[in-house]
Amino acid sequence: MRITATCVSEILERADVLEVVQDFVSLKKKGQNYWACCPFHNEKSSSFSVSQAKQIYKCFGCGKAGSAVNFVMEMEKASYPEALKYLANKYNISLEYEQYQTDEQQEAQTQRESVLIAMNFAKNHYKNLLKTHAEGISVGQAYFKERGFSPQTVEAFELGYSLPQWDNFLQTARNQQFVEEILEQSGLILRNEQGKIYDRFRGRVIFPILDLAGKTIAFGARSLKKDEQPKYLNSPETPVYTKGEMLYGLFQARNEIRKRDNCYLTEGYTDVISMYQTGIQNVVASLGTSLTEKQIRLMRRFTENVTVLYDGDSAGIKASLRGIDMLLAEGLNVKIVLFPEGEDPDSYCQKLDSIAFQAFLESHNQDFITFKTQLYLQDSAGDPLKKATAIREIVQSISKIPDAIKRSVFYQQCSELLGVSEEVLISEGNKLFLKEQDKKHKEKEQENKRTNSKTITPPFDMPDAAFDSLLQGSEMPFFENFEDNFEIPTETELLEKPEKTDKNKTEEHSFSNLQKAIRNQEKESLRLLLKYGQMPLNADLKVWQYLFTELDEMEYHTAEYRKILELYQEKLVEGIEVNADWLKNHFSTQNDPQAVSMIIHLETEKYEISENWEKMHEIVTKTEADVLPDALYKHCLRRKLLVIKEMMKETVEKLTIPLPPDEEQELLIRQINLSQINRDICQELGIVVSGRY
Ligand code: CTP
Ligand code: MN
Repeated sequence: MRITATCVSEILERADVLEVVQDFVSLKKKGQNYWACCPFHNEKSSSFSVSQAKQIYKCFGCGKAGSAVNFVMEMEKASYPEALKYLANKYNISLEYEQYQTDEQQEAQTQRESVLIAMNFAKNHYKNLLKTHAEGISVGQAYFKERGFSPQTVEAFELGYSLPQWDNFLQTARNQQFVEEILEQSGLILRNEQGKIYDRFRGRVIFPILDLAGKTIAFGARSLKKDEQPKYLNSPETPVYTKGEMLYGLFQARNEIRKRDNCYLTEGYTDVISMYQTGIQNVVASLGTSLTEKQIRLMRRFTENVTVLYDGDSAGIKASLRGIDMLLAEGLNVKIVLFPEGEDPDSYCQKLDSIAFQAFLESHNQDFITFKTQLYLQDSAGDPLKKATAIREIVQSISKIPDAIKRSVFYQQCSELLGVSEEVLISEGNKLFLKEQDKKHKEKEQENKRTNSKTITPPFDMPDAAFDSLLQGSEMPFFENFEDNFEIPTETELLEKPEKTDKNKTEEHSFSNLQKAIRNQEKESLRLLLKYGQMPLNADLKVWQYLFTELDEMEYHTAEYRKILELYQEKLVEGIEVNADWLKNHFSTQNDPQAVSMIIHLETEKYEISENWEKMHEIVTKTEADVLPDALYKHCLRRKLLVIKEMMKETVEKLTIPLPPDEEQELLIRQINLSQINRDICQELGIVVSGRY
């Protein structure tokens, strides 16, 4: 059935892109726009932006862009009418349909839609039985009551009850004109060898599994008889449900996860429900299976902090430890709470009162190192072989962490806890890390061979994944009033050892050199962007995309450059790729001759190959466009190098005042790591490290 035109325009008017996106993605405001990691492709730094003023979203990484409706369609794999319905529901707009419906329109409803309708119908059927059927009340409600679930909780999770008869649901659905084929595709009914069909869920309490939009996509059904197998009977995979892609409770928990910036990860339905009832609502369950990458990424859309709750009796803890490594590898911060013997979050939550339970969580959360150490050493009492296993296990976990600084802090902690030197741990970890990188590299090569796609070398593999996270964490000081000085020392000049004058002078000299270098490189970014922005680097990557992704989190210190860049970006958000001519035109109509001359200046800027670079590559005759991938890569590295240098400078400044030993230690580690990265980048750039900075 068609939604009426007036109703459609009401929905489109009311839907606010920011509010809609926020239900799925955690956004951070930066400047005019909101930013996040893109929900449509996997990335660790944010290139997904939302403009509330323009009512659009746009990802600079994968290029997906559109309005609130497009977002829902993309996110929910929904058709246009489905997306409208979703928005109508969100904004409490009642849908008005046109009065007729042709056969074709009916047929045109996709299979997905039909299955979703059947699932929704089933959910309401089971809910009604629980609420109104005599047996639903005497058996179903009694069961939930015994488990300590309040009527409000039962309602919040839309729990239900299925009668023990063979075909109670089937009959009801038939009466409502549901076709058997769809019911079978929904996994709600089964067919035996004789072709006889019957209900999948019988005599069980029902836990609907909802997607992020609150739609029912599957069910878990718990048996009520002791020892009946299986304890939980779950929906099979269907056109709307793939195992390991959803987290139980996420629909109810997502706002709270965002608010608390933390997510509790449990194993089961009842853990989620009991914790929710006790007031801890940022809780989800992995649904019995071992944690998957998809589930982790789903969680990471809302927070980077996860607390894993392990049952005390679970003999399978060691088997499920892989989940921790996966969380670490995806860049999440992991804490662990181990429950007392024989308890799971549900049972313990019901045993303690809400305050005591929260206190337990707070006092028993451990970082993964302490947790693993205890786990492996608890019954080893000085057994050196067991200790070696423990060390290897822990190093294995640490080596997965993509952030170099975090890694180093954990190595240090591990060294203290286990009494092994840090160097040994780091070198073991590095071996594992390299092995993993090597494996990934080979996989990538295979993939490239298979798809026969050309990759551009060397730019698109950073030497160390740690760079990204490092740069994201950096806060750069702002210099608004820069003296206008275009005679800037080249970087080679800058990186050379400063003349040895008296100490203070050197300090000052290098500081302003750093500022100049930063300005210089900002100008270079802008120049590359204006000159080559729309040039494709490969089938799905243009220069502007590369630059924005690589230099994403970098602030521009120089106001004039920032102005041009922001306009460029604003236009991209609108889906318009502008060039230098467009910008000149724009600024001249804005009566901004300074900006115009800046652009002209950039356009005519001579391209200077750095001396070392020239030597290294023996490039003399090639034009810049020929070596563009390399030039871009080097340029981005240079900018990152300057950020590192600024961070080093800041750290050194902090270290000059007396500090508590902990803090001092932390800063020293930071400095050591920064200088390592500094060295790595310099090496990559072919710059000799001078020891200064
Ligand atoms: N599970 C499942 N199928 C089973 C057993 C378990 O899907 N046959 C999943 C369910 O999501 C369940 C979770 O694994 O919630 C954890 O299993 P378990 O610890 O055995 O159950 P509890 O959550 O403790 O459930 P209850 O308290 O109802 O016994
Ligand atoms: Mn339990």
